[in-house]
Amino acid sequence: MSLKAGLFAGLMAASLPFLAVSQPVQAEEVKIGVVLTYSGGAAQFGEQIDRGMSLYMETHPEAFGGHTVTLIKRDSKRPGGDIAKNAVQELITAEEVDILAGFVFSPNAMASAPLATQGEVPMIIMNAGTAWIPSLSPYIARVSFTMWHSGYPMGQYAHDTLGCETAAAGYTDYPPGKDSRNAFQTGFESSGGSLIEDIPMGGPREVPDFTPFFQRVKDAAPDCFYVFVPAGNHATAVIKTFAQLGMAEAGIRLIGPGDITQDTKLQDMGDDAVGLITMHHYSADYQTPVNLEFVAAWKAAYGEDSTPDFMAVGGWDGMAAIAHAITEQNGVITAEGTMAALSGWEFESPRGHIMIDPETRDIVMDSNIHEVVRRDDGRLGINVLGTIPQVADPCKALAIGRCGGE
Ligand code: PHB
Repeated sequence: MSLKAGLFAGLMAASLPFLAVSQPVQAEEVKIGVVLTYSGGAAQFGEQIDRGMSLYMETHPEAFGGHTVTLIKRDSKRPGGDIAKNAVQELITAEEVDILAGFVFSPNAMASAPLATQGEVPMIIMNAGTAWIPSLSPYIARVSFTMWHSGYPMGQYAHDTLGCETAAAGYTDYPPGKDSRNAFQTGFESSGGSLIEDIPMGGPREVPDFTPFFQRVKDAAPDCFYVFVPAGNHATAVIKTFAQLGMAEAGIRLIGPGDITQDTKLQDMGDDAVGLITMHHYSADYQTPVNLEFVAAWKAAYGEDSTPDFMAVGGWDGMAAIAHAITEQNGVITAEGTMAALSGWEFESPRGHIMIDPETRDIVMDSNIHEVVRRDDGRLGINVLGTIPQVADPCKALAIGRCGGE
């Protein structure tokens, strides 16, 4: 329940002194407006986050302090921002939601941010990764990642450990793509490398034919080729095109954020993916007790062939954050109260230890170096080659561009 409704209920109770004194702590209904891609090419992303949220609720009913949570779901369909913004408007004004949650694509979170501010509704971002999103509203907290958690350390690792002196960057041409490119370039060049090709590769809605872009890279012959695409079918096409053009044989090493080796797409990638190095915060293959339990619960709920990926973990962790905020505020939700509850919140996630940075309202977590391997049972898996512990968004830490208030 919102504070306004809470004040009204409080006044009513105050005018009934008997009730006011003897009433137990009230069980509130907390309405959560969930904005996700439930249809179209990105429907699988919405499904992962939705399932992650539901699974947390089903397995942790006690975490909500006895309050009832109602999810009111809206389909943002595509990355453009307009549909999500209309949905958020309606969720705030007609449904009077207490909390907004979800947001797969950065443009959808960006378009909705001013409404969170005006409506004073807290917004919990479960995917959208462009670094400066939380600065668009004081009521945004992010439980997913920023493009810099992967891109920046990947740049350093590419130079310092993989020995790449030159690199090309290819990226889907929208805010998180540019942000991921900037993150990689900053890490790579500050370590001594040099970015020699920079290629925007079409928008996020359609999977493009990557051949002309990759051919340009092959001709430029860098040591490393860093690619960001928004996961899903884009990622499968990246791996295929890289192999078809014989780029590995030409001496070019494909690297990127873990979005290009997403767990749900990994098995489709075949031998072409083996040996790939990516940087990310989650793989379903992590052998930690928390993750083994999470994956087992996931398979029990959604089937043995179903695999959670980093988006599912965004939903799971986001729901845990919401449960904490609800309990801390005793079911009467304000934007300020939610941000206060989440400031410094810590949690043992399937990805490892996470924390919400009180300064930035963004996530602090481990970034891991992933290598794709073929397991004895024939399946593709992820080995963790190393960990950069508890990374606070480097874009904000270094105050670069819009992260520095530009
Ligand atoms: C985003 O739009 O911010 C986004 C989408 C998909 C990803 C990563 C970031 O894999």
